[in-house]
Amino acid sequence: MTAHHFLQFPFFQNQGTKTKTAEFLMHGQSYLVILYCLLLLASCTSKESEEAPLTYDIIPKPTSLVEIPGFFVVDQDVEIIVSDESLKPVANQLKEKFAARGLELEIVDAVGKNKAIIFEVDAQVAHEEGYHLTVTPTEITIRSSKPAGAFYAFQTLRQLSPKEIEENGKMAAGQWKIPAVEIKDAPRFSYRGMHLDVARHFFPVEAVKEYIDQLAYHKMNRFHWHLTEDQGWRLEILNHPKLTEVGAFRKETLIGHANDRPKKFDGKRYGGFYTQEEAREIVRYATERYITVIPEIEMPGHSTAALAAYPELACTDGPFEVITEWGVFEDVYCPKPYTFQFLEDVLAEVMAIFPSEYIHIGGDECPKTRWKESEFCQELIKKEGLKDEHGLQSYFIKRIESFLNAHGRNIIGWDEILEGGLAPNATVMSWRGVQGGIEAARQGHDVIMTPTSHCYFDYYQADHPEEPLAIGGFLPLSKVYSYEPVPKELNAAEAKHILGAQGNVWTEYIPTREHLFYMALPRMSAMAEVNWTPANQKDYDDFTERLTTHIERLNAMNIQPANHIFDVKMKITSGNGDGVQVMFSKENKAGTILFSVDGKPITKNSSEFSTPILLSGSTHLTAQAFDGKNLVGRGVDQQFNWHKAAGKTITFKEQPAERYSAGGTGAVINGVRGNTVRYGDAEWLGFEGKHAEAIIDFGEADTFKKVTLHFFKGEAQWIYLPKNVSVYTSDDKEVYTQVGASAEIKGDQKVITVPIELNSAKGRYMKVLVQRFGLIPDGKQGAGHEAWLFIDEIIVE
Ligand code: ACM
Repeated sequence: MTAHHFLQFPFFQNQGTKTKTAEFLMHGQSYLVILYCLLLLASCTSKESEEAPLTYDIIPKPTSLVEIPGFFVVDQDVEIIVSDESLKPVANQLKEKFAARGLELEIVDAVGKNKAIIFEVDAQVAHEEGYHLTVTPTEITIRSSKPAGAFYAFQTLRQLSPKEIEENGKMAAGQWKIPAVEIKDAPRFSYRGMHLDVARHFFPVEAVKEYIDQLAYHKMNRFHWHLTEDQGWRLEILNHPKLTEVGAFRKETLIGHANDRPKKFDGKRYGGFYTQEEAREIVRYATERYITVIPEIEMPGHSTAALAAYPELACTDGPFEVITEWGVFEDVYCPKPYTFQFLEDVLAEVMAIFPSEYIHIGGDECPKTRWKESEFCQELIKKEGLKDEHGLQSYFIKRIESFLNAHGRNIIGWDEILEGGLAPNATVMSWRGVQGGIEAARQGHDVIMTPTSHCYFDYYQADHPEEPLAIGGFLPLSKVYSYEPVPKELNAAEAKHILGAQGNVWTEYIPTREHLFYMALPRMSAMAEVNWTPANQKDYDDFTERLTTHIERLNAMNIQPANHIFDVKMKITSGNGDGVQVMFSKENKAGTILFSVDGKPITKNSSEFSTPILLSGSTHLTAQAFDGKNLVGRGVDQQFNWHKAAGKTITFKEQPAERYSAGGTGAVINGVRGNTVRYGDAEWLGFEGKHAEAIIDFGEADTFKKVTLHFFKGEAQWIYLPKNVSVYTSDDKEVYTQVGASAEIKGDQKVITVPIELNSAKGRYMKVLVQRFGLIPDGKQGAGHEAWLFIDEIIVE
């Protein structure tokens, strides 16, 4: 038992040891009873007046915030003063928020009571969405030039209030304190968006409203509502009722991941749709929160649900079924007069529901297979003087654009709409990377940045084994936070076309409301700050500190975000000849990390981690964060397996992609195998369109029995197995002799193991040459692109 332990548990010590506490217990019995009663009394009173700590933990971080001593108490002695009619709707929302907590305040237009919350129009507040907020002990003043600014001040006030403001139920008198402050705030970008796919999985109106509430709370102003897909059409269209009668339902849904073999289905009919009345209610709800709803009606691809309802829209005869699995599908709209008439009918109804200037028309991932085979399409290409099927896609989008432009609307499309020529007034959503955004901005088009690398919240956010199944990738909170929406390649004039960034939530693997918020938050919080806060004021450590309070507030709203800022992350470095070193870290800087190298569960008495640990043999590592009182967050429990290449030097002829080499190139010889489900963790190296050619330097000549390699297969994510592997050794790094080779690499599992016998080959250097797959074949996802190659542990025996 340590001294530390005695301090914690003075009453459970050995009988023989006397401490001051123990003596007091024996000799001061009657005095103790009185003291105990006093303490009980004190604890009761202190409970009644227990105060929530005042914090300035606001997300997104305001542009300027000056803390002032003192606070404003919200009670019956407060009135809400509104001098301008335009601010009444926001003032009413504030009033309702207080009323929900049992405090009825009056809205008046002149001073009566001692304390006031004052809404004022102030043309001096330059930014349309900006506000000035001053809190003193007697007054809260909200100044804005437009109501949106007042609305954002209201969100800031919610975040300055005790978290109980987000719960329903009475708040005890005197507890409602708002710290004094002076805030001047305005957003960096005009487009601050979140997307939601309601087609792969359907979310009822109530859940969509909760999602919109989160956008508002984070001062976002665009809700991109992805309404149609291969797997379901979700918006009632009166002129074409079969779109929802047939297209809103699929006969069953894939179980597990799209890469799993054999494929399994749940056998349960699934679906749902929004009536026009419900969609209008969503628009009204969002508008009240200064959010524009941008509907997306996908074309010409991702349209199988519409084809199932109206097979006449396709190039072939059908019949078609609403799709039951995840991917990209070949049956797409055929660019014939019937189709354009149909889409114009649909869009006319869409425009009548959604007042948004922008209508999103999709444009992504449209396989050209059917158009290539169609006599009609080939003739149309000739007649219109188009170059090829990409030209035909461009023709398709331009026709739809001119229809929408004629009705006073503009289109947004995914970056594929650049291929074959951009429609004249289109705004581009850059998702496959940033290149589409750069190109569009250079052509003078507006751009919304939403690259998979930083904005796809359907990707894994942690590489902990308990993470729920996700589509793939790896996008931790810190990476979202680090995003800079304006590409360095753009000059100042071009950069003006970057309207902002958007987080996307595709829902193939997100079937429920709870799962939705777990994936969307807190990455949405990070995206909010990317869009709002000036780049030079962003600070990740400061953000994660504020996030602890923020997450408590979200919990009070019955929202359970992912909370991994206390998770311990392990990094095992190897590959530079210095052996194998282990580092532990966590996102929130508070507290310590405790660890063990003998596989023992962590307790409060485990060793504290401070400097990297050097490993010299197979080891079982465990670690967890400690906040000074409790073990917190998710821990590490990892077997490390020693082999001949561990800790040696490795060099690759061509480098892996930056986003898929989180652990450095030494990760393939660090004694830890990559996850068998996910390729985005720190263990896998991903090469895009390159062979993987590595040289391992063993430092001195050695004899080798065998080398075993591991490859990831995920064709839906464009990841293919390599063709083959050959192995060479050398004594001088000049002349290499082939000492082993694999057969053609095949297999259906997600991770394929390739053992290669080396028959006691000798040498100081070993060259491993992995031949990439090449171009993705037609008809597959990512057709025409170079396949990715993912490789992990190269075990040398
Ligand atoms: C997309 O993720 N297919 C836009």
